[in-house]
Amino acid sequence: MPGLVIVGAQWGDEGKGKVVDLLAEQADLVIRFQGGNNAGHTIVRDQEVFKFHLIPSGILYPGKICAIGNGVVVDPRVLTEEIAELHRRGIDISGLRISANAHLIMPYHKLLDQAGEARLGSLQIGTTRRGIGPCYADKAARLGIRMQDLLDEKILRKKIYAALEPKRLMLRPFAKDPQLDLHAMTEDYVQLGHRLEPHIADTAPIAWRTLDRGELVVFEGAQGTMLDIDHGTYPFVTSSNPVAGAACIGAGVGPRSIDEVWGIAKAYATRVGAGPFPTELEDALGEQIREAGGEFGTTTGRARRTGWLDLVALRYAGRVNGFTGLVITKLDVLTGIDPLHVAVRYLGPEGATFEEFPYHQSILHKARGDLVELPGWHEDISGARSIDDLPRNAQDYLDFISDFLGVPIVMVGVGPARDEMIWTGAAERVRPAAA
Ligand code: IMP
Repeated sequence: MPGLVIVGAQWGDEGKGKVVDLLAEQADLVIRFQGGNNAGHTIVRDQEVFKFHLIPSGILYPGKICAIGNGVVVDPRVLTEEIAELHRRGIDISGLRISANAHLIMPYHKLLDQAGEARLGSLQIGTTRRGIGPCYADKAARLGIRMQDLLDEKILRKKIYAALEPKRLMLRPFAKDPQLDLHAMTEDYVQLGHRLEPHIADTAPIAWRTLDRGELVVFEGAQGTMLDIDHGTYPFVTSSNPVAGAACIGAGVGPRSIDEVWGIAKAYATRVGAGPFPTELEDALGEQIREAGGEFGTTTGRARRTGWLDLVALRYAGRVNGFTGLVITKLDVLTGIDPLHVAVRYLGPEGATFEEFPYHQSILHKARGDLVELPGWHEDISGARSIDDLPRNAQDYLDFISDFLGVPIVMVGVGPARDEMIWTGAAERVRPAAA
């Protein structure tokens, strides 16, 4: 079972980090393929809390090869801070590899992200303001600075100059900001380069060799399908492709290297930032789910919008990614909510119905979920370790989802702790021996 892609099936924050952490135990390589430090996940290990934005969570297994692929955008300051923190806590990070081709987030990217949002006013996207969009924009404009550029001061200075000059006009309000001084910036990034140099590598061949040996490679996606720049709710999306196809591009392998694609979805839905959300609950129940699920961002601390599970969007995600398995997380958060609802089609403003996810933004922005009622459960499910341990209504809820998508459920999260997870028979091929 060599190539397994893990992707978010909703709007991000589905709990991918915990799933990757569990799979990493027996993976031979974990490689992230897109996004940057707009993502974030928290891992609790032996009562110690670790927060990661860039480093794959597999790093907590000593010596595990964890790579940041070419498709990721890296803020070298954030990365060096993450490395320093792991050092401080005595974690062996000898397995960390960073693609020499990964693009760098520069100070001007962050300023441009802020300025862009301010300019949009009420139309703003609600970005994480980490400079992600402007960095990918420079990559496409061929003005990007890459990890390998940190290792040659002359090249670095030239490239920063070439990238910075065209932005001076847009950055005029920040003209006196010391962050924009070419010499200081070059000096600063050279220093960061020295610190990162031991980890800079050609990461694609590491993936090829691991796959050639028939060993398990976990391709770790960030954000989620509905935030995909091509397939999500554009323009309220991130600037990369969180879908499974991007694993090939962002890690440097061909599609035939991918054997399994697992979509991660919460048992309900959340979204951070602006944009359409057809099953949103803007009432006390939405608040109850937010509190019960701890739905506040790891990266920005923002309260997440909450809603019912949207099966129209989830089935669409299944098609776009080609799911071979579905992981349902945080099922326990729904305990005590009775009845439950899921959306099985969308209703338009003039009585129109949409069975499939609509491509047209005007429809999508006004669509509301047509909800089906399903019975809830009241029993504590955190002790369940097999599907049979779950109350009948919880099993029926999972069956309803799986049948609607035509995809088997491979794992179910029943609580925040590492072991509060059900592995189903369908996960057999990658299930850690100890689980
Ligand atoms: P950006 O990726 O910072 O440009 O933000 C674009 C949109 O994606 C905003 O709505 C963000 O809230 C959202 N977003 C980016 N990263 C994440 C994530 O990891 N989880 C959830 N939403 C995210």
